[in-house]
Amino acid sequence: MSGISVIGLQWGDEAKGKLVDLLTRRSDIVVRYQGGANAGHTIVDGDQKYVVHHLPSGILNPDVINVVSPGVVLNPQTLIEEIEAVTSQGIVIGQRLLLSERAHVVFPWHIAEDNAWNNTLKGKKNIGTTLRGIGPCYRDKVGRTTAIQLGDLYREGFKEKVHAICELKKSMLAGFAGKFDADLLNPETTISDYSVLAERLQSYVGDTNHYLLDAAETGKRILFEGAQGSLLDLDHGTYPFVTSSNSSGVGISSGSGLPGKWIDEVIGVAKCYSTRVGGGPFPTELENPTGDHIRKMGNEFGTTTGRPRRCGWFDAVAVRYTTRLSGVSGLALMMLDVLSELEEIKICTSYQLKGQTIVDFPGNADDLAEAVPVFETLPGWQTDITGVQEVDQLPQNALNYVERISQLIGAPIEVISVGPDRKQTIAVGNLLAGN
Ligand code: GDP
Ligand code: IMO
Ligand code: MG
Repeated sequence: MSGISVIGLQWGDEAKGKLVDLLTRRSDIVVRYQGGANAGHTIVDGDQKYVVHHLPSGILNPDVINVVSPGVVLNPQTLIEEIEAVTSQGIVIGQRLLLSERAHVVFPWHIAEDNAWNNTLKGKKNIGTTLRGIGPCYRDKVGRTTAIQLGDLYREGFKEKVHAICELKKSMLAGFAGKFDADLLNPETTISDYSVLAERLQSYVGDTNHYLLDAAETGKRILFEGAQGSLLDLDHGTYPFVTSSNSSGVGISSGSGLPGKWIDEVIGVAKCYSTRVGGGPFPTELENPTGDHIRKMGNEFGTTTGRPRRCGWFDAVAVRYTTRLSGVSGLALMMLDVLSELEEIKICTSYQLKGQTIVDFPGNADDLAEAVPVFETLPGWQTDITGVQEVDQLPQNALNYVERISQLIGAPIEVISVGPDRKQTIAVGNLLAGN
């Protein structure tokens, strides 16, 4: 048995989908274990581009079983749209998808509440969520009294539960009156819509806990696909500018239901610069033409929301922290091609905070907002590298840049990505051996 996980080391969109897809060739099962439709993972194969939100990226490989485990919050409508989209692109799902009956369901009132908060929190206080109802759904899950699990859609008492929740929500959300459509709290509409959706998903729903435990104990190769990034982790990220689940490596066991002894390797995925979408502190942000250049070259617009992503230099203070937090054994460094035209490239190696030089990532968002990055400058390579297949074909300056990042964060490089396509990948270590 080998359990391997793919974890984002920054604020999401590190190109986890591309790496997971490459690793499915050495996996029997791929598990999505946290987050929900806030994620958007892209896989490019020639002229085909696939985008998945809830579906594990293993869905593209006909030999792989795909599991959505209890830690995920699931929007049945979005999931069905996704299933239809990949099916129309020629993917046959058949019985290769298993959805946990324990996963919590996103309802219209969650999305309404997400929107209402987004319209209420102004300026720097705004989290800038994906408006997919993620936070409100997890809030209900933790509160337990107004939550519905996927399995509940098929059990007696579902209709009564929806009626009771709608009544409660009307008073709980009264403060937001006028900020969202009151029809979203109509129990009859929800019952009829969700009954249709539930029927369409029924053949996929089951107990993933025993399935995964059996699989691990019988030597199946399991790949854990993290969503978001470690700096968006609810407990260990840049709170409150985070998502509502444990998106760093520490969330794998709680979300999937498999104990840590089944996780042998953690591959950290990082871009060779930084991006962030939504609010929150971002010390190395470039609000200038260089930032615009990176956004343009990297096509840095949200996969899920289409929002322009904020761009900045690579932050080795942040990624050294998340490399340690997530227990990273090897690094996949993505999007190296995006920096190819720059004359000089900077890496943040420490922060100045309250008159001190610090190398440990601050635990408080206000402190982080005050931190001034200290940069090291490296020469660029100004050569097109999108066709490079072997590490020794990279220009020396590109190699120096990559090696400096590896040294600063304390993890060996396994993979370098030089373009979105599956083929635009350089294997450095043995991770992709056999691909
Ligand atoms: P994820 O959420 O971590 O899976 O990442 P996204 O799919 O949201 O964003 C990554 C984007 O970068 C996608 O559009 C990928 O197709 C693209 N991409 C992946 N690797 C590379 C690369 O090495 N270079 C370039 N230019 N684009 C890449
Ligand atoms: P993938 O898996 C980038 C960000 C949002 C917002 C914060 C909270 O594609 O890397 P939420 O809707 O989760 O309550 O939003 O988290 N965010 C992401 N940013 N990539 C993602 O997923 C993200 N999922 C959430 O922009 O700042
Ligand atoms: Mg994404």
